Amino acid sequence: MAGKPQPDAAGPRDPRVPRHVAIIMDGNGRWAKARGLPRGAGHKQGAEAARRAVRAAGEAGVECLTLYAFSSENWRRPEEEINDLTGLLRFYIQKELDGFHKEGVRLRVLGDHNAFAPDVARMVDKAIERTRDNGRMTVAVALNYGARGELVRAMRTLGGRIAAGALAPDAIDEAMVDSVLDTSGLPPLDLLIRTSGEYRLSNFLLWQAAYAELIFTDTLWPDFGADQLRAALDEYARRERRYGGL
Ligand code: IPE
Ligand code: IPE
Ligand code: MG
Repeated sequence: MAGKPQPDAAGPRDPRVPRHVAIIMDGNGRWAKARGLPRGAGHKQGAEAARRAVRAAGEAGVECLTLYAFSSENWRRPEEEINDLTGLLRFYIQKELDGFHKEGVRLRVLGDHNAFAPDVARMVDKAIERTRDNGRMTVAVALNYGARGELVRAMRTLGGRIAAGALAPDAIDEAMVDSVLDTSGLPPLDLLIRTSGEYRLSNFLLWQAAYAELIFTDTLWPDFGADQLRAALDEYARRERRYGGL
């Protein structure tokens, strides 16, 4: 049943609980604007919502939660906003890492976080390293991530192997493509949620979302809490996934 912790890997798992949930956390700016606050205040509340989502997903037995925090297109925003977001990242890694580590959360990053300020990039590397053996749950944060860029990098990796004579083009299959994506080793994406009433993917997980269930909600991300996550998981549990079959 959705909402119940899942047994460990050795036990049978409830197929109605998604193994991998991804969220496009959108609407921070509009949340702030509606209150006459600067956009940065919306991002701050958005970071709190992310913390709540991690806890609620863990309690529900979700193995992996992927959060779209900064897209490769978000560099188009004013420098001040980028600085706000970088500052929040710095602040939250410092503030939350111990707690997440104690709770058995393993941190992963999708995208190239080395484009951020060097101290932030180093902090992220250290957080990944420190939590790498944690097994209760994986939180993958998409930072400077874009799905097309990810696919280009994957093609370069495979192209390099072909050029080196180590790979025959015919040997490329879907599993091999999976293995060179940023999400390699993560469970298949089951559920993709986007907040704020926008109905688009904004360059997120284009390959991985091929058979994901999609949920769009009007809730602005800073207002998204444990109840909204549970409602989405309940909705997922009611969906019938057919994968083209009957
Ligand atoms: C999502 O909220 C957070 C990021 C993209 C970093 P937005 O900042 O996009 O909020 P809106 O869409 O302007 O309301
Ligand atoms: C998508 O939101 C990226 C993140 C949530 C990090 P955006 O607000 O950047 O997307 P668009 O511009 O509406 O497509
Ligand atoms: Mg937005």
